[in-house]
Amino acid sequence: MINRRIRSALLGFITLFLPMALWAEPQQLVFSHVVSPDTPKGKMAKMFKSMVEKKMGDRFEIIIYPSADLMDDDEAVNAIAEGRIHFAAPSLSKFETYTQKLKVFDLPFLFPDMDAVNRFQNSPTGQSLLTSMENQGILGLGYLHNGLKQLTADRPFTRPEDLAGLRFRTMNSDVLIKQFELLNAEAVPMAFSEVYQALAVKRINGQENTWSNIFSKAFYEHQPYMMISNHGVLDYMLITNTDFWKGLSEQDRFNFRYAIKMALKYGNAVAKAKSTNDKTELTHMKNVTVYEPTAAELATWQNAMQPLWASYEKIIGKNIIDAARKAGQP
Ligand code: SIN
Repeated sequence: MINRRIRSALLGFITLFLPMALWAEPQQLVFSHVVSPDTPKGKMAKMFKSMVEKKMGDRFEIIIYPSADLMDDDEAVNAIAEGRIHFAAPSLSKFETYTQKLKVFDLPFLFPDMDAVNRFQNSPTGQSLLTSMENQGILGLGYLHNGLKQLTADRPFTRPEDLAGLRFRTMNSDVLIKQFELLNAEAVPMAFSEVYQALAVKRINGQENTWSNIFSKAFYEHQPYMMISNHGVLDYMLITNTDFWKGLSEQDRFNFRYAIKMALKYGNAVAKAKSTNDKTELTHMKNVTVYEPTAAELATWQNAMQPLWASYEKIIGKNIIDAARKAGQP
């Protein structure tokens, strides 16, 4: 009798809920970024989507919004902290509302090359920065490279004093703002999506960015003069909302971690190839002059910008700056 009742209750439950479970739509997870799909970050995001959906497509769908179509980076960082979107990969220069520690990546001439950046990011100090905003709702899941930044302008320049009085766009970071102020230039913080137009109407005279961003956003159309300055790094942190991440099952986190590992590996390979390729493309453009400074000339730029290291020692933390410097001297 009891068995019959349980059996019929079970049957009722299955009839009612199983079709709903079978028809349940996957949860949509939003990934917002500001660059073109055909960039290291754009390609990484697409790889992440395909890896996640291959393994867990019945339950999760990744919706990618590239090119700041949904929001710019400052808003994306806040949206992650508040759990309004699920994934983003802003430049490391865009977290200053949440932590001072990541400013280490903005210090000019701290990393001699991308191998040094990689060594620092993989060091215990670099890894600890991924969780430095965890209590504020932002959890770092890994680093993605773009590359070293180059200076570009609407007029020829070779010496630091050539930038005096010019207006340079920066990301929203006080280290980057002060870097241009040290050169007696005016820093104009601005969202990435506004830079092309600002260059076109000459609201700004110059900017700093990676070969891949200069090329993919066609900044060269209004910036015929470039210098191989390699003076700073533009890398990203893949971030998620802390509560969203902690609310996932162990198995889902494991699968996400695997997708992230593969996507970042792929994105980093794309970054390396694109950096070389886009630099070559720009160097061969008829209307673009790419100036390669001598070691002595580069030293004058270093001397002009390096005072920032000492002034940020207390703000960032001496131990963090020392670990980054150590990574630069293997
Ligand atoms: C990006 O590469 O995501 C944008 C960097 C910038 O704002 O210059």
